Amino acid sequence: MFDDVRSEDRIIHVCVNVDCAMRGSEAIRDRLRDIVDETGSDIEVNDYVCFAACEQGPNLLIEHCRAFYSEVEPQHAESIVAHAEGGDAVEGIDRSSSFLARKIFNMLDAGFKPGDLSLSD
Ligand code: FES
Repeated sequence: MFDDVRSEDRIIHVCVNVDCAMRGSEAIRDRLRDIVDETGSDIEVNDYVCFAACEQGPNLLIEHCRAFYSEVEPQHAESIVAHAEGGDAVEGIDRSSSFLARKIFNMLDAGFKPGDLSLSD
């Protein structure tokens, strides 16, 4: 129903809760931030606390692309930023059509902003 809704906020939300952090999500977040800084992009990279997909982490969400990625590794970071900048989705880790992702997107459509739970300043 809301599949065409896009956020104007250009944000990548990276889960840094315990399970994802133990699988390396903080290093992925840091790499994403480095790439964004190096390229002068205006995309924000925020901390997020649990998408309820802990067993398939590290997980992240590109809010403005309605993209949800799982089992992300640091080497995916450049492709993820490219997707966030309007490029293609990253094959193999794209879970955007999953039931969970659709629930997350529905929450966004209802006005719930993941950044509300961000650990970032
Ligand atoms: S700890 Fe990352 S989704 Fe739950």
